[in-house]
Amino acid sequence: MRKIYIFDTTLRDGEQSPGVNLNVQEKVEIGLQLEKLGVDRIEAGFPAASPGDLAGVNAVAKAVRNASVIGLARAREQDIEAVREALKGAQDPCLHLFLATSPIHRKHKLRMEKHQVLETAEAAIKYAKKYFDKVEFSPEDAGRTEIDFLIEVTAMAIRAGATVVNIPDTVGFMSPSEFGAIFKTLKEQVPGIEKIQLSAHCHDDLGMATANALAAVMNGADQIEGTINGIGERAGNTSLEEVAMALETRQEFYQAKTSLVLGEIYRTSRLVSKLTGMVVPGNKAIVGANAFAHESGIHQDGMLKEKTTYEIMSPETIGLKESKLVLGKHSGRHAFREKLIDLGYELTDELVNLAFAKFKDLADRKKQVADEDIRALIEEKLIET
Ligand code: KIV
Ligand code: ZN
Repeated sequence: MRKIYIFDTTLRDGEQSPGVNLNVQEKVEIGLQLEKLGVDRIEAGFPAASPGDLAGVNAVAKAVRNASVIGLARAREQDIEAVREALKGAQDPCLHLFLATSPIHRKHKLRMEKHQVLETAEAAIKYAKKYFDKVEFSPEDAGRTEIDFLIEVTAMAIRAGATVVNIPDTVGFMSPSEFGAIFKTLKEQVPGIEKIQLSAHCHDDLGMATANALAAVMNGADQIEGTINGIGERAGNTSLEEVAMALETRQEFYQAKTSLVLGEIYRTSRLVSKLTGMVVPGNKAIVGANAFAHESGIHQDGMLKEKTTYEIMSPETIGLKESKLVLGKHSGRHAFREKLIDLGYELTDELVNLAFAKFKDLADRKKQVADEDIRALIEEKLIET
């Protein structure tokens, strides 16, 4: 089974979510939890962005011992120097350089011709290699870059000494088949590609970030970049818990796995939500409040008979105690009776039927019926009889 390296960028791209600002202590707290989760690489920030971010990256670099700590830099010497400063004390430092390559970015943002992009990136990688063994290079907006130019850029990055080439779908424009095809082409056509790791970095503008990352895996990607809870610039990044659980649940299909400690997923998600202030939507895959909750009577009956009828993974795997059977207007007698037993009531069939009718009336009026509602309803029925 092939190992997929997990590059977590919650503290960098994740922190680029509008309204999120983590202080040094919060970055360290999340960094240490990511270490417990077993991620291979932690991008702790963009040191040239501000003195506070440099301090945050430095504190994470000193605290984390069991994952490589990474700082982001533009293809400029001052940015590389800021990362050098920030990664002092890191056990396994790595520099992440980026420069845009797509025609739109070349024309409007960089105002550079192709040859200037190649020269600038090459000079920056060579400069970085004087100080770092591990250098990742990202051709920003690779998804919208001409494939021939992307091949040329990747080959240049390998010759200049990059150890990882990351392919970002910066604006979340790709579909899984297109994104997968880029990896296939690079693997087949770039000389020396076997010497480096190829990585995927996806954004979720069209809701494709996880699907695109998995398409990259199917086509030879060695590393997936993403964030916890999928937070990040605009619609966010690939959600790492989704990738990890997709590979875990469909191991035979993907023939690949991560070395994440899956039982730490839920705890990590809660911590990131608390410290970033970004609420996890109830229906979010894997970590949303409803991800292991069942409301309809048919589903609850199935779950009570055999959990695999409606669950493809168990909540315990991600560190949750159990699935929830939520009582509402779609719930059936089977789940209702189980709830009564849980609450300590052993009633005759006749009483259960009477209480169930009352419960349905109440459920029509309330979205969810809580344990206290059921208790009140049963006590009332017991007094009446
Ligand atoms: O989305 C992007 O292109 C990035 C790069 C810095 C890798 O975040
Ligand atoms: Zn990004």
